[in-house]
Amino acid sequence: MKAIRKIGIITGGGDCSGLNAVISGIVKAAVGKYGIEVVGYRRGYFGLYHNDFVTLDLDTVSGIMHEGGTIIKASNKDNLFNYHFKKDDGSYEYRDVSDIAIENMKKENVDALIVVGGDGTLTSARDFHRKGVPVVGVPKTIDNDLPSTDVTFGYNTALETIVESLDKIHTTAHSHDRVIVVEVMGRNTGWLALEGGVSGSADVVLIPEIPYDLEKVVEKVQERDARGRNFSIIVVSEGAKEKDGDVHVRDVVEDSPDSVRLGGVGQKITDQLEEMIENHEVRYTNLSYLQRGGTTSQFDRLLGLRFGVSALDLLMQGGAGKMVRYQGRDITRVSLEEVVGKGQTGETSEGGDKFVDPEGQIVRTAKSLGISFGDE
Ligand code: F6P
Repeated sequence: MKAIRKIGIITGGGDCSGLNAVISGIVKAAVGKYGIEVVGYRRGYFGLYHNDFVTLDLDTVSGIMHEGGTIIKASNKDNLFNYHFKKDDGSYEYRDVSDIAIENMKKENVDALIVVGGDGTLTSARDFHRKGVPVVGVPKTIDNDLPSTDVTFGYNTALETIVESLDKIHTTAHSHDRVIVVEVMGRNTGWLALEGGVSGSADVVLIPEIPYDLEKVVEKVQERDARGRNFSIIVVSEGAKEKDGDVHVRDVVEDSPDSVRLGGVGQKITDQLEEMIENHEVRYTNLSYLQRGGTTSQFDRLLGLRFGVSALDLLMQGGAGKMVRYQGRDITRVSLEEVVGKGQTGETSEGGDKFVDPEGQIVRTAKSLGISFGDE
């Protein structure tokens, strides 16, 4: 394999806290340990296609490690193997423009890529590797839904935001004897709602893996009333659905690999509960994008730095085509072919989503604590 003298970084998909720690880890090790150059493609694969990049050196990454977001920006729309072009009538046509991206790399003497992203972004990373581009992947999502890694950076910071918000919401719910519904992200999995809700003393947690019955939720509120606890906090995952019901779709983004955007189920539940509960006002808060930003937590800083340095080590040791992941307390490696591109709900050993186990320890713990999942 050709010696690697210059690499490109791509941050794709929705952003999250910890991306800058990854970038910082890669650049510091690239310059200090390997003496190689780094560029960052701006706005994910969009930058690779348009040859839009910035040079990353020790000055550029100084003081960024704790900051949310990504200094090279991100995009969750640009699949270069199926790139969208808007036609005059407003519809889209799709073409494979990956060769243009590879030409851009050659023009700038970029020898290899480190791609940071979720399943969609890493599937393209695998496809570039199949076309001969040396690529190493770094998994990223606030949703904690990637089965190939115990956890990703961004998840812990999002949980901190949820817990801090629930602490604040408790005081106002208590003062006004209100029921407050708090919607959190997570796509088709309930990790953020479950772990955030339990840690933030929610009374009800509604997650996609356990379809709910609102009558059971009302019973929980009434049970609390009977004990003189005249307020309740309901944490609902954006992917939660009623028994025999379906998810609440907020938007369909045509030119995105994962086109369906969830959201709004919290508002729906609030409206329904207003009709069902007489003695409380019901209010709604959606934590939404607050969960994606914020000062990076200690856990996510360290994980981001470790992922960044390990990804570069892997690349420099001839490990292209692999992805770093967190297992136990170690960073290990796995082939991209094995773990990506299985789709949102693929049924494979490591592909598809990583779901909350409705019979698992955390759910059982929560139930022992008296938290309702709206199911019994
Ligand atoms: O996957 C991360 C995530 O924040 C999900 O939790 C959420 O459903 C989605 O991205 C939102 O996407 P967008 O930024 O396109 O609204």
